[in-house]
Amino acid sequence: MSPQSWSKEAALGVLATTRVEPGPVLISLQALQQHFGYVPQEAIALVADACNVSRADVHGVLTFYHDLLTSPQPRNTVRLCAAEACQAVGSRELAKALEESGMVEIEKTYCFGNCALGPSAVVKGRLLGRATVESVLAAIEVGVMT
Ligand code: FES
Repeated sequence: MSPQSWSKEAALGVLATTRVEPGPVLISLQALQQHFGYVPQEAIALVADACNVSRADVHGVLTFYHDLLTSPQPRNTVRLCAAEACQAVGSRELAKALEESGMVEIEKTYCFGNCALGPSAVVKGRLLGRATVESVLAAIEVGVMT
């Protein structure tokens, strides 16, 4: 599903589907991110009310998990692993080539747990192994979705 524009009504609809145990705060934040592409600041109070926790608790979860985004991401952001195993098989060179293409914005990340198939990248929520400039750009063009 493509990210939707923020609206309180849509957020309340998303939250109504997430009241399951365990971890309702994290599940709620993940569901909102799935729906909107990030977790808007305005959603913190809604999640706190829905999960019966403080806003500080929600903020703590939101800022603890690196994968939870607090702002919209540029359309063609590629998360590229910059950890040792991927560096050993060319992630730095791949990052440079992708940046030079002018078609993507690189976000460095440290290990996707896909070390044996490096360089590893995530494009539109989908993990790519043995990533190349061509495979990353192809994944962007075909609109690989989560
Ligand atoms: S080092 Fe890149 S996925 Fe683990």
